[in-house]
Amino acid sequence: MPKKEVKRIIRVDHAGERGAISIYKSQRFIARFFYKDIVAQLDEMLAHEKKHFDTFNSWLVSNQVRHCYALWLWSLGGYVLGFITALLGRKAIWVCTEAVETTVLHHLDWQLDFLEQHDLSAHEAVVSIKADEEQHQNLGFLNGSNGMRYLPIQLVVKYSTRFAIWLSTKL
Ligand SMILES: [Fe+2]
Ligand SMILES: [Fe+2]
Repeated sequence: MPKKEVKRIIRVDHAGERGAISIYKSQRFIARFFYKDIVAQLDEMLAHEKKHFDTFNSWLVSNQVRHCYALWLWSLGGYVLGFITALLGRKAIWVCTEAVETTVLHHLDWQLDFLEQHDLSAHEAVVSIKADEEQHQNLGFLNGSNGMRYLPIQLVVKYSTRFAIWLSTKL
């Protein structure tokens, strides 16, 4: 039986992937009309997030751990965030990607340190997603912008992601 903190970590990661799926789905929806050239990239990231979700989902199922009660909230939050950023422009999509993935990766780092000591199967699940998230972060960095006008988007995305992570450790 995995330890309480281990369960909590995978539960939050699982919920986070649900949020990421929703972000990319709504951005893709808008991109199909206005930024057709990035649809393929969004599709690829979406496919990764679905794979990540399945990885954590299988871990939860095989360890008989419940998912986060706020899964629907992650989904809704992701759709809203994706929709608004996509409407703000092509660069805003990438600024959002970079902000989300940076927050996520920061989180993964301490999780990996902890899991290495406490649960190898959970550790392996988190390791398996890391390279994809780094790739997303890098794409966001390359295609986004550090311009002042994107700073508010960056901050809103960063703090809402942090808030969602915090909230999910409680639910
Ligand atoms: Fe992911
Ligand atoms: Fe990602």
